[in-house]
Amino acid sequence: MRHPAIHIASPRGKLGVLLVGLGAVSTTFIAGVHAIRKDLAKPIGSLTQLGTLRLGKRTDHRAPAIREFVPLAQLDDLVFGAWDIFEDNAYESARTAAVIETGLLERVRTELEAIRPMAAVFNRQYVKRLDGPNVKRGCDKRDLVEQLRADIRAFARSHSLTRMVVLWCASTEAYMTESAAHKSLAEFERALDRNDAAITPSMLYAYAALQEGVPYANAAPNLGVDIPALVELATEQHVPVAGKDLKTGQTLLKTIIAPGLKSRMLGVSGWYSTNILGNRDGEVLDDPDCFRTKEVSKKGVLDYLLQPQLYPDLYGHLCHKVQINYYPPRGDNKEGWDNVDLFGWLNYPMQLKINFLCRDSILAAPLVLDLALFLDLAARAGRHGIQEWLSFYFKSPMHATGLYPEHDLSIQLTKLKNTLREWRGESLITHLGTEYYG
Ligand SMILES: NC(=O)c1ccc[n+]([C@@H]2O[C@H](COP(=O)([O-])OP(=O)(O)OC[C@H]3O[C@@H](n4cnc5c(N)ncnc54)[C@H](O)[C@@H]3O)[C@@H](O)[C@H]2O)c1
Repeated sequence: MRHPAIHIASPRGKLGVLLVGLGAVSTTFIAGVHAIRKDLAKPIGSLTQLGTLRLGKRTDHRAPAIREFVPLAQLDDLVFGAWDIFEDNAYESARTAAVIETGLLERVRTELEAIRPMAAVFNRQYVKRLDGPNVKRGCDKRDLVEQLRADIRAFARSHSLTRMVVLWCASTEAYMTESAAHKSLAEFERALDRNDAAITPSMLYAYAALQEGVPYANAAPNLGVDIPALVELATEQHVPVAGKDLKTGQTLLKTIIAPGLKSRMLGVSGWYSTNILGNRDGEVLDDPDCFRTKEVSKKGVLDYLLQPQLYPDLYGHLCHKVQINYYPPRGDNKEGWDNVDLFGWLNYPMQLKINFLCRDSILAAPLVLDLALFLDLAARAGRHGIQEWLSFYFKSPMHATGLYPEHDLSIQLTKLKNTLREWRGESLITHLGTEYYG
């Protein structure tokens, strides 16, 4: 299958990366990019920087680097900005997060100190465990949107940017389901005008970015841009969006292992996941309302992956539990345990134990980089609305109404690479392999 290549505008000039939240993930991302620019580190974990993709037949031996195959912005052309409820600059915030060791941090200190967060749109109603001084005083939600739009425009002007992306890397907001105010853009705007509680700060940032024609991604599990009203706005404004909740530790492994067990038609009767986490994210998630948002995002994965409705004998009685325990001594160095109760031929039971000693922000930072670069690419390729090919990065991938999300990591990667092949007019890879056997 071959399609004509689509036009992708070249990435001329500087790309502004505006981060909502200047905490552990954001500062690890920014510090990492500066360290890589200075050749102090390699971009480990980043598909845009290290990934390749195969073109043509296996016998053609064509496997260009993704960053040479599609015109991505260069790391040297990224300019960072942020909003946060705390006044700490990116260096101070990275010190608090304590993810990157002091020696490396000092070598990018000047660059980090230059990033001072703009005042945030924040309301404790949605994140009970936090409070900070760097918050906008607005008379109403409309006014707050206008202030955010002014920030975005000022950022572009002051750095002479040609393009921007906005990524929500702020704390997880309290659980909320889609309501009438979210159903259409007209309803959303009416709700905005009456200061409806259904319009959260993350929605105000997304609305402001989209109104400014800026692509938007959500790294956290709260609804944010994942409501019909804002998808409608993204389509109207011709802007790409992606989300939600970065797929990093325990859920990443789940979406690698569960499809493997299902491929072999092995049954699963229980999957118990628990972990300890001591960073600020862990503290926020210690509040039951915020944890519920994360829990829903983490728990949905197995239902979709294992499809109990299609395989009742294998997964019809699955018991799936997920816990996050706030445990300060561990900081960002999360430890996760999974116990999987599975069964095979003649119902013989087996167990699988996974103990993942990971680092939350180290896993998340390269995903933020990839999302910034791919969203910018999508905008220059004229794409708009939900970018399903970026499902690869998320625990709860956004998807069109009526579809179920694709969670299987290897399918997600195939989807991503085939999208890039299609854009460049290359044959899609079906893995049939019939061409090798006359
Ligand atoms: N690290 C991972 O592996 C991972 C994976 C998936 C999702 N996430 C999500 O990414 C987000 C960031 O994680 P983190 O570890 O950096 O958390 P963090 O607590 O270190 O940083 C979040 C920052 O957001 C700020 N903030 C909160 N509300 C804000 C608002 N309305 N406007 C501006 N700033 C605001 C906080 O002050 C804080 O500095 C969290 O929601 C987390 O759940 C992280």
